[in-house]
Amino acid sequence: MSRYLVTGGAGFIGSNFVHQVLATTDHQVTVLDALTYAGNKDSLAGLLGDRLTFVQGDIADAGLVEDLVAGADVVVHFAAESHNDNSLRDPSPFIRTNLVGTFTLLEACRRHDVRLHHISTDEVYGDLELDDPAKFTPDTPYRPSSPYSASKAGSDHLVRAWVRSFGVAATLSNCSNNYGPYQHVEKFIPRQITNILDGGRPKLYGAGVNVRDWIHVEDHNAAVLAIIERGRIGQTYLIGADGEKDNRTVIETILRLMGRPADAYDHVADRSGHDLRYAIDSSKLRDELGWQPAYRDFEAGLAATIAWYEAHEAWWRPQKAAVEAGYAARGQ
Ligand code: NAD
Ligand code: TYD
Repeated sequence: MSRYLVTGGAGFIGSNFVHQVLATTDHQVTVLDALTYAGNKDSLAGLLGDRLTFVQGDIADAGLVEDLVAGADVVVHFAAESHNDNSLRDPSPFIRTNLVGTFTLLEACRRHDVRLHHISTDEVYGDLELDDPAKFTPDTPYRPSSPYSASKAGSDHLVRAWVRSFGVAATLSNCSNNYGPYQHVEKFIPRQITNILDGGRPKLYGAGVNVRDWIHVEDHNAAVLAIIERGRIGQTYLIGADGEKDNRTVIETILRLMGRPADAYDHVADRSGHDLRYAIDSSKLRDELGWQPAYRDFEAGLAATIAWYEAHEAWWRPQKAAVEAGYAARGQ
């Protein structure tokens, strides 16, 4: 049994991680989450109790972090500002949370000799050409495009520096785009599903040729657990499930699965600096740690995700109108 401190455990991936840890291990979990617009305690409903404690607070609050890290065996660091479009409007919380917050956790882990796993994104590598057969590997140079990806790239560099200079026992993972339950309605897939459930239409940025490498959130989190349990200290593992799809295809698939005509969507303003394509080579993770994705059929995973949003309107409804008003104000 270990004591896990899970930062960002009320967010999309973090809350799914807490569900998975409680269901598949005997670890004790403390969630540290600021409950920003992206955090939702309802994502942990029914779990709070003997094995799960919730602390509302900021990962950049050094005093609070010091106390919580002192009582943990492992810090699993999901907390971040996570949405590219928001980072284009106001980068400042991205710098504070993703850089200063990660620094604060690293300093506490250094003082208390606590193991850290840092969750990051493939977006630190920038983008690939659409017709390039290459995928991202752990050796791909960093070339982030947006304030979001630049702040995550900076946080990765901080973790590696604290490993090398101070001997902090950390591992890192960079994952591709996640989908599944409890994802905020600002993100691509839940936005389109809830638009349709709301009687509206999906919104495609630009021509929709951009490619994302989709992975189910449970597969991401199973990989994170494998890295915490068996990963080599100081190493970076790329997590991906060979799920490349262009955005237009994803929208058409959602429309078909929800019984709508495939062309019942709107083209809206493109994202500034929009990365073209992400693709992950996860062979290091597969070969070293024996990880394999359980969700190999994207359409089946998407259908289950649609069913989840249909059944959990009370979870997403409170955020929907404000998110759409924000997009509409920017022509998106
Ligand atoms: P999310 O936005 O859904 O959740 C982020 C959580 O962090 C929220 O609960 C929020 O309240 C909390 N938080 C934000 N600032 C905080 C602060 N200062 N102190 C404490 N808590 C704070 O994000 P997500 O999609 O679950 O992403 C989680 C992690 O995974 C991030 O580090 C992100 O970069 C990474 N990642 C995400 C994806 C993806 O597809 N969503 C892919 C690869 C990597
Ligand atoms: P997003 O979920 O924001 O993830 P990321 O920027 O981290 O890849 O967007 C996924 C893709 O979908 C990205 O290419 C932008 C595009 N997109 C749309 O076409 N329409 C939308 O309404 C949104 C939110 C995103």
